[in-house]
Amino acid sequence: MITLITNIQELLQVRETPINKVSGSEMANLPTIKNAFLILKDNLIEDFGSMENLPKINADTVIDAKGKVVLPSWCDSHTHIVYAGNREQEFVDRINGLSYEEIANRGGGILNSAKKLNETSEEELYNQSKIRLEEVMHLGTGAVEIKSGYGLTIEGELKMLRVIKKLAENYPISIKATFLGAHAFPTHYKENKDGYIDEIITKMIPEIAKNKLADYIDVFCESGYFSVEETEKIMQTGIEFGLKPKIHVNQFNSIGGIQAGVKFKALSVDHLEVMNPEDIQALKETETMPVALPSCSYFLSIPYTPAREMIKAGLPLALATDFNPGSTPSGNMNFVVATACIKMKMTPEEAINAATINGAYAMGLSETHGSITKGKKANLILTKPISSYYQIPYAFGSNLIESVFIEGKILK
Ligand code: NIG
Ligand code: FE
Repeated sequence: MITLITNIQELLQVRETPINKVSGSEMANLPTIKNAFLILKDNLIEDFGSMENLPKINADTVIDAKGKVVLPSWCDSHTHIVYAGNREQEFVDRINGLSYEEIANRGGGILNSAKKLNETSEEELYNQSKIRLEEVMHLGTGAVEIKSGYGLTIEGELKMLRVIKKLAENYPISIKATFLGAHAFPTHYKENKDGYIDEIITKMIPEIAKNKLADYIDVFCESGYFSVEETEKIMQTGIEFGLKPKIHVNQFNSIGGIQAGVKFKALSVDHLEVMNPEDIQALKETETMPVALPSCSYFLSIPYTPAREMIKAGLPLALATDFNPGSTPSGNMNFVVATACIKMKMTPEEAINAATINGAYAMGLSETHGSITKGKKANLILTKPISSYYQIPYAFGSNLIESVFIEGKILK
């Protein structure tokens, strides 16, 4: 099955030579072909170039993309899409003056979602979650990482990870699974934190690894949640069982989580709303991808990740949604890209690099996703007619997507 897309006004993120990420000043460079063609063969990118060099081919489908932009689909490397119910009441409580921390301290927050999740059947959890997955696919996401972490019991965590596995089996989008048992301390372990860590280390991780239910291990390393020492212990065990770390750090406080992540060769360190110069320094010359979650900053009214300082220091940066019921009830990567430009002063080129190739890197998918490269997955966004790709962040509330291709097929 061959699809030919012709007359593409701008074909973005064209990488003839495969790369796995972009850092520092390279982030400002978004290689683009104007007036381009793109050929898809089955589920892969077969060829591309300038219309002047269009080869003679017999395509099964020809799409005229005059006035439209084509780019690789978004790579959302940090989500909590699998959850039960919602937390609308906490949203209103925050409007009325309570903080995210105050809500969590009175048993709301993550524990509220954990209660709901443990009361919800696996089938119902799947049905609620697939609606969100379908929504983000239509918003242009072509690869996604999904975390557990609302079970906080072995049964609940396994249930979440089985739902993630079932979503991966039933949908064409690439899905990576992360075990986040260390998201909060469940109520019955409040006075026995070591007991819960022991359960994660001796029961949950071995069981999850045995059943191959996760690719990565995550910990919420934060004051009042998991200390640096506890985070290291959990990462260490995860690594022993083949799970590479991707961790939540520096959301509210800088307590050394980044340094711990780097020490354990974490694939990514995520959130980074609160960064001091030592944190930036620690990430230099490492393989760990910093990931910013601007929709979370927006929704909770907390600081934005200091993208400019980090890029200036030579670091790469990825962008993801953090889609979850408490801090970010939105999985819209278009909004993330726009917010990164508007609030973090990233240029459109930097934000698109961060949401495609660097996002792919942050979930171990940059060999197959995140750029227009021969042999990579034909996961694409085709926009409506727009004046230039600057419109994507500029027209921040509009849906500019005409169609989404996943594995070479237009999403219905
Ligand atoms: O990434 N910060 C930790 N975890 C999630 C939010 C969890 C929740 O409030 O349900 C986050 O923001
Ligand atoms: Fe998160």
